Amino acid sequence: MVASLPLQAALTEIGAEIDRRFDALLAIPDDPRADLYRAMRHAAIGGGKRLRPLLVFATGNLFGVDRDCLARAAAAIEAIHVYSLIHDDLPAMDDDDVRRGKPTVHKAYGEATAVLAGDCLHALAFEWLADPATHPDPFVRSELVLEVARASGPGGMAGGQMMDLEAEKSRFDLATVTRLQAMKTGALIACSVEAGAILGRVAPDGRTGLRGYARDIGLAFQIADDLLDVEGDEDKAGKKLRKDAGAGKETFVSLLGAERAREQARMLVGQAVDHLRGFGPEADLLRSVARFVLERDR
Ligand code: IPE
Ligand code: IPE
Ligand code: MG
Ligand code: MG
Ligand code: MG
Repeated sequence: MVASLPLQAALTEIGAEIDRRFDALLAIPDDPRADLYRAMRHAAIGGGKRLRPLLVFATGNLFGVDRDCLARAAAAIEAIHVYSLIHDDLPAMDDDDVRRGKPTVHKAYGEATAVLAGDCLHALAFEWLADPATHPDPFVRSELVLEVARASGPGGMAGGQMMDLEAEKSRFDLATVTRLQAMKTGALIACSVEAGAILGRVAPDGRTGLRGYARDIGLAFQIADDLLDVEGDEDKAGKKLRKDAGAGKETFVSLLGAERAREQARMLVGQAVDHLRGFGPEADLLRSVARFVLERDR
């Protein structure tokens, strides 16, 4: 059971599981779409911390959810995340050449293929979630689809990305940056925890503690990303750093300075752990994830 593993072992096991899933789900067809699949595989297989899949598993394991169901939901949410990274790296957005220690998809396969690879991962995520193999109960599947759609769209990741572009042009205050980060990064992280609870058929009023936990680690995660941008090591991060300040982007770090931003993130991690007080040792993996979110170097 993933839940009883220490964090690093759990990340390794989930990483291997997600790689296996993508390998099976993205078999290269023998037709003119081969490069589209190669591009998706390039982005999706063999890289990334797999934090969102780990959250799906760690939460689902609290409620005894079947491993195959969790793996399908985890792969779908990771597919949304990978699509968001492909598009985030495009010249029209952050214009990055390296991601997860490899050339970005548009560098390896061209911009048109990168756009389409993102589109396909986006659509495939919903196809996988809606498939009866993900859960026998159609109400559970439709709740999953609803949550992932909300977390990905204008009220979540994509809306947050739009605000992030505006953050290069406007002076945002702390409340606006908090909302931006909660949408851009927090929504999909929160949705990963929610998916584990949905598959566990936890009634919405039983999810309050988990929701508080997820909201706090989502924010701490993006503060850590912004701190890494300023202080991190590019080889470890596997992506270009020191971009935000040059782009004039308003972040927690630009508004508060590195020390107070770190302080804020520490407070959020503590608060996240407090939200789990209703759980015993079975939630220790989630507690370790909360600390990892800030201590990570990639
Ligand atoms: C990077 O996400 C983009 C943000 C949302 C900050 P991750 O730091 O989870 O990237 P991978 O999946 O490990 O590559
Ligand atoms: C991207 O945020 C968040 C997404 C939704 C993809 P960043 O632009 O800060 O992510 P990195 O630093 O490129 O990974
Ligand atoms: Mg960006
Ligand atoms: Mg970026
Ligand atoms: Mg960043």
